[in-house]
Amino acid sequence: MYILAFESSCDETACSVCEMTEGKRIIKSNIIASQVATHALYGGVVPEIASRAHIEAISKITYEALSVAGVSLKEIGAIAVTNGPGLIGALLVAVNFAKSLAFAYNIPLVPVDHIKGHIASNYMTYQELKPPFLALVVSGGHTSFFDVKSYTELKEIGSTLDDAAGECFDKIGRVMGLPYPGGHAMDLLAREGDKNAIRFPSPSINDTLNLSFSGLKTSVINYINTQRQKDIELVPKDIAASFTRTVVDAICSKIGSALKKTGYDKVVLAGGVSANSHLRAGVLAECKKFGAEFYAPELSLCGDNAVMIGAQGYYEFLNGVRADESLNAYPS
Ligand code: KG4
Ligand code: ZN
Repeated sequence: MYILAFESSCDETACSVCEMTEGKRIIKSNIIASQVATHALYGGVVPEIASRAHIEAISKITYEALSVAGVSLKEIGAIAVTNGPGLIGALLVAVNFAKSLAFAYNIPLVPVDHIKGHIASNYMTYQELKPPFLALVVSGGHTSFFDVKSYTELKEIGSTLDDAAGECFDKIGRVMGLPYPGGHAMDLLAREGDKNAIRFPSPSINDTLNLSFSGLKTSVINYINTQRQKDIELVPKDIAASFTRTVVDAICSKIGSALKKTGYDKVVLAGGVSANSHLRAGVLAECKKFGAEFYAPELSLCGDNAVMIGAQGYYEFLNGVRADESLNAYPS
């Protein structure tokens, strides 16, 4: 069946068509209207501007997604839409658009959780992948370990107690004057630097699967400010490498106990920060150590997109999940 999917939880307006059957998952189109250039002017996402930009983009990208896929609305078997978590005004744009289309064309409407969507991006990269597995979602808003019991059922078994890892990458990147959003630029810079140059506090909370990134973030920013006050020249590549190593080590230190707790032998990485080359390499090495299979989405599916929503939407649809005109969005 063909699934038309929408995603507008933050600063990307996305629409896709996926062809989903029991044996095959095919991306027919994957259209993303990015607002990065707009928000770059402010150094972060401005929610009101994001909502307006979603409204301006959504009709156009829907036509584009259908025409690239060569599929008409009459052939769509279900419409999937992210209804949370995210920025409420942003989410409501795709939710209301999807509701209108579903109502007008009498197509089943399926709400999808954004985090489940990120995990589902892996189903499109690996045709053979199926639950159960351990998932690690690292994004701008989340850093969590999940016990993924089935396509539609998951349980959080550990998470950050404050900031998400992606948020730290972005804030530290901003303080260092890197292009917005900082995650990708930090990734490149860290490849050049010495990861042992500076010692920062670990975000790991011992004997739990939880993390706390706020102390690490403050420590890196204090380090940068102190060096500047003392007129000592910063070495941005060493800061990026040392910070990244601290994040990757802390996340990786939890994988062994998370595998033990769940009893699984598969680790699935997801979320925007899953594009980070150091994190991918670190988690892969940790998986090898514990004899677990490692999965991470292809780079084009790491950030926010609608393909992942279509993938998860298909399994929610099979599970009987449906929404009507009363569907609402939830921010957290
Ligand atoms: O999943 P996502 O697109 O949006 C949320 O759901 O939050 O994640 C966005 C986050 C941003 O913080 C961005 O800087 C980060 O993912 N990111 C990266 C990389 N690419 C994107 N962080 C580190 N290294 C990267 N290569
Ligand atoms: Zn996301």
